[in-house]
Amino acid sequence: MRDIFLGIDTSCDDTSIALYFSGSGKFIEERKTQDVHEKFKGVVPELASRDHLETLPVLLDSLLEKAQIEPFELAGIGVTYKPGLIGSILVGLSFAKAYAYSLSKPFIGIDHIEGHLFSAFLNNTKPEYPFLGVVLSGGHSEIFLVKNFGDYELISTTVDDAAGEVLDKMARYMDIGFPGGPAIEKIAINGDRKRFSFPLPIVKQNDNYFSFSGIKTAALAYFQKEDNPDDKFKSDLAASFQDAVIRQVIDRLKKALNLTKCHRIVMGGGVTANTKLRNSIIEELGDNAVILIPDIEYCTDNASMIAQLSAWKIISGNTDELSIEAHSISDLGNYYIKKNKIGF
Ligand code: KG4
Ligand code: ZN
Repeated sequence: MRDIFLGIDTSCDDTSIALYFSGSGKFIEERKTQDVHEKFKGVVPELASRDHLETLPVLLDSLLEKAQIEPFELAGIGVTYKPGLIGSILVGLSFAKAYAYSLSKPFIGIDHIEGHLFSAFLNNTKPEYPFLGVVLSGGHSEIFLVKNFGDYELISTTVDDAAGEVLDKMARYMDIGFPGGPAIEKIAINGDRKRFSFPLPIVKQNDNYFSFSGIKTAALAYFQKEDNPDDKFKSDLAASFQDAVIRQVIDRLKKALNLTKCHRIVMGGGVTANTKLRNSIIEELGDNAVILIPDIEYCTDNASMIAQLSAWKIISGNTDELSIEAHSISDLGNYYIKKNKIGF
């Protein structure tokens, strides 16, 4: 049996399928970002599921062709089974289950957030524990103390919106494109980040938790008050807003470093593709911590991270029954138990 693991991710609007060769550390991936959502300026769940269904078999064929392998050579199959859009996840999960069943291969379900936590290690480096695992994406803003593989303590989460979510919403208000993070980053390059001021939000119950909805409301108010929101205005607002998101991330990271005394930070998730955020974190925290951020192509959703985690788990003897179910939420690090404890 060759050491080849298949990973599938259909958690949102990217259809992705990858092979991980655990012996050589090599990846081969096929990914398609759905463009059906652009005209709606946001992901339409029903369209996303249908698109995954049409795309997955095509990507699988092309992946096997590219890698020049036969399905029977696979050592195991892993798939995202939480969190995300439930219809989208169901498509990938059902596809992976059927494939594993028909080939009699070991099967495992992967938490997509755990995938992002380890995507900085897709370059063949081995994790050193403990580390502060930071996931900033369209649906999540979390910091975990990763004590070991599979042992995660939630240090921080958001009490309202996620970082990527407010970037997407702000881009929609300004009508500058979708997804919002890259659209804001693009026009922010020429903007004045000092033109609009945003406070650093304080979460009374737990000052290292994130809160992004207040700055989103403030940015919207700036936008609505302007009679002529021309390109210069939008660039300045984008730069100021992006800066407010970055400042908050750095503030919460400083607090997490103090709290845990853990000086290794490993980032992941779509928002960490932001060059300004990457540079600012290294500039501000680089003297105080070792910082790992995935290559830009592996910040956003990808199946390589799922293939790698599937390999690690299956090789160490973990598999799932084909009866596992899809979930729209993650429970990594007892996410909800912690949330309830502080009364949200
Ligand atoms: O991890 P991801 O691909 O999907 C989720 O799991 O949510 O993250 C998507 C999010 C979106 O909100 C998108 O606007 C944001 O990541 N994003 C960015 C950048 N590229 C993607 N945000 C800021 N700057 C970017 N360059
Ligand atoms: Zn993601």
